[in-house]
Amino acid sequence: MTVLDLPLGALVVLIGPSGSGKSTLAARHFSTAEVLASDDYRAAVSGDAGDQSVTGEAFGGLHADLERRMAAGELTVIDATNVQGWARRPLMAAAARHRRSTVALVLALPLETSLARNAARTDRRVPPSAVRRQDRFLRASLPNLGEEGYEAVVVLTDHDQVESLEVRRIPDTT
Ligand code: CTP
Ligand code: MG
Repeated sequence: MTVLDLPLGALVVLIGPSGSGKSTLAARHFSTAEVLASDDYRAAVSGDAGDQSVTGEAFGGLHADLERRMAAGELTVIDATNVQGWARRPLMAAAARHRRSTVALVLALPLETSLARNAARTDRRVPPSAVRRQDRFLRASLPNLGEEGYEAVVVLTDHDQVESLEVRRIPDTT
């Protein structure tokens, strides 16, 4: 069993390709207010959660809300692929500005799992090539995560590990 201890006001950066189960995991362990999902910001900007053309504006909104929540000391989960360093950097910067703890929660499931789930989706499907690319970026990122400054890096590599994850809230010690 993997236990994730989260201090008050912590930042949880979900990392995983499309179809890896980020939103499913977020819904299980966190309240909707705690989860900032790139899909929701895309939908707010364009009316379509899959509209990649509004990515810049969508993330502008997400980053602004993250800044506000970090300042207020509110636990915040970023539900976006976050598979590239440049996507994670502004998240870490927001946490650092407010001295918040940070956790990388990585869904490093087999590529075939993400591809199969993506193919079976009824809500929003991305091209398999995009899943493959995101999976490559994720695996290239794994060796770098230790240097990016997270208090903890939790890498879940199979379904059983995801299922047995336990999230606990602990008093802030920072
Ligand atoms: N799914 C599943 N079993 C799990 C987790 C997810 O069958 N343990 C299914 C979901 O029901 C969904 C699909 O796999 O149909 C993708 O899961 P989702 O949580 O939406 O993946 P995300 O990582 O959030 O994908 P995206 O980046 O595209 O939002
Ligand atoms: Mg999702």
